[in-house]
Amino acid sequence: MTKATLLVTRRLPAAVEDRAARLFAARFNPEDRIYTSAELVRHAEGADAILTAPGDRLDAATIAALPASVKAIGTFSVGFDHIDITAARARRISVCNTPDVLSVATAEIAMLLILASARRAGEGERMLRAGKWHGWAPTQLLGTQVSGRRLGIFGMGRIGREVARMAAAFGMEIHYRDQARLPPDLEKGAIFHDNDATFLAQCQVLSLNAPGGEGTRHWLNAARIAQLPRGAVVVNAARGTLIDDAALIAALKSGHVAFAGLDVYNNEPALDPGYLALENVVLLPHLGSATVETRDAMGALALDGIAAILAGQRPKNLVE
Ligand code: DGY
Repeated sequence: MTKATLLVTRRLPAAVEDRAARLFAARFNPEDRIYTSAELVRHAEGADAILTAPGDRLDAATIAALPASVKAIGTFSVGFDHIDITAARARRISVCNTPDVLSVATAEIAMLLILASARRAGEGERMLRAGKWHGWAPTQLLGTQVSGRRLGIFGMGRIGREVARMAAAFGMEIHYRDQARLPPDLEKGAIFHDNDATFLAQCQVLSLNAPGGEGTRHWLNAARIAQLPRGAVVVNAARGTLIDDAALIAALKSGHVAFAGLDVYNNEPALDPGYLALENVVLLPHLGSATVETRDAMGALALDGIAAILAGQRPKNLVE
């Protein structure tokens, strides 16, 4: 039987590329250079499906220009804000993503950001590596203890709930803001807020875990930051677009936000240079799902989803 043709837009872990080559006639991108829209369309010529990833831009114009042969797009990510889903629907192209399998890894990065920013781990490491550490001192790098504090989770989906589970083990009191209250078996004692004002007032630590896209663009702006308790900690392992950078940088300078931890940015990889000049922010290069086992599982899920779509089935990871 002839294999369907799959364009793989980015270099993927070896196990995933092997699986892609077993399931499909796969076209790889060994140099891992991000394709322009025109290149992507050209490489997709005659392909049945595309395996894309964050960093690619499948906007309405790109999707409209794709060859008629393309019937499925899988993304190597849970987030699909880089794909214009409405445009894909209009072309009858089905889209699938990688939910669930990366929730624990991403929540670990959110916890890492909470701990590293509140306990000033970045500053400490920079001091040590610069040869500026002259030994223990009673007043050195005093941070904020997170245990016993109130954590507010904006976006209580799969990843947000994992953050809640981990943070509860640190003795944090969990508050959350989402469109609707969760059933008790998912809420697990976390406190729901149906409005931003009561939610933000509780957030000694705020973790952003909502999807990106227009609905959440710059949700954390100056007005909402002003509603956080003074000295709050803010972390973002979701999408950079959730934050108005100028507002957060101003709050980090004034001390209204004492510490921040960021794994994702507006305009990645060109993050706002204002962050680089600040000591009280921990910056990671979008590591959320970056473990071997998670990335292998993401690849398997995305590839199986594409194969199911091409076989006329409805995969469990179909983006609705
Ligand atoms: C995602 O899955 O959306 C991440 O940002 C990449 O792991």
